[in-house]
Amino acid sequence: MGNENALIVGCGYLGCRLAGQLPAGRVTGLVRSAAGVERLERQGIIPLRCDLTHEVGQSLPTEGADVWYLAPPPRTGVEDSHLRHFLEALDDSGQPRRMVLISTTGVYGDCGGQWVDESRPPAPVADRARRRLDAEQQLQRWGERSGREWVILRVAGIYGPGKLPLERLREGRPMVAEQDAPWTNRIHADDLVQVCLAAMSRGRNGGIYNVTDGSPGNMADYFNRVADMAGLPRPPVIDLDMADDSLSAGMRSYLAESRRIDNSRMLRELGVSLRYPDMDSGLRACFPQE
Ligand SMILES: NC(=O)c1ccc[n+]([C@@H]2O[C@H](COP(=O)([O-])OP(=O)(O)OC[C@H]3O[C@@H](n4cnc5c(N)ncnc54)[C@H](OP(=O)(O)O)[C@@H]3O)[C@@H](O)[C@H]2O)c1
Repeated sequence: MGNENALIVGCGYLGCRLAGQLPAGRVTGLVRSAAGVERLERQGIIPLRCDLTHEVGQSLPTEGADVWYLAPPPRTGVEDSHLRHFLEALDDSGQPRRMVLISTTGVYGDCGGQWVDESRPPAPVADRARRRLDAEQQLQRWGERSGREWVILRVAGIYGPGKLPLERLREGRPMVAEQDAPWTNRIHADDLVQVCLAAMSRGRNGGIYNVTDGSPGNMADYFNRVADMAGLPRPPVIDLDMADDSLSAGMRSYLAESRRIDNSRMLRELGVSLRYPDMDSGLRACFPQE
């Protein structure tokens, strides 16, 4: 990365993996908690503690910086006030060279299992997806206002070492049968890190990219495979009409949306070569033999 000034806003699971690929000592990670600060210090990332729930009220190292914005929106509402607070702070702290924003493929809403590329208009159904679309729109307005560069990554379900539904499986929580489960899409965290780097260095200014491995599957199959590889029981299968009583509201909202995400623009324009182009290869890497 040519830029000496890199800031990862929301430097958690993904951010720390991304920081590991950037020149040591040059990356600042913004986190909310004291525990987050300790984690960054252990990993040699310059910590910056700031809770974006509120107005920022401190100077941020953003002038001319490469900024990856990975912080999640608030848990309720249809607006990303966290991003709004961050963008407002840039007027005083200085404008970044470029911002790469993590959004989700959820902004497309339910697509009835169709293949979806970036030309499909967003139609979010769940509030969590509406908040992400709001974030995308805020970023675009910031780009117009500031004249600085931006890229949006619409990311599918992230999995990887330390990011597997093992607790859910241990608790024996149920899942619908494979034939009742909608299409879902995934990306291994290490491949997502490559995409984040490529978006900063090679992404088209104003570009929007779907980020997924290009091999859609279904959620029930995913849980079963993780269970098999982890040596845990597969989730008990429930009928779709029992889902209202047996599944969390969050899980029901995921099951209500079906789409197959096309990643050809990402491959073509960002030039990434996926290490894990399907779940089999990605899960094998999460469970190395011996
Ligand atoms: N899970 C998926 O399948 C999926 C799919 C698409 C997109 N995404 C999105 O990808 C992004 C990165 O995911 P991840 O797994 O790296 O998440 P993560 O491990 O939960 O990290 C989130 C980071 O954001 C920080 N943060 C949270 N609320 C904040 C606030 N109010 N102010 C400042 N910082 C705040 C956290 O700080 P602390 O460390 O102090 O807690 C943490 O460092 C997230 O936005 C996530 O929603 C996830």
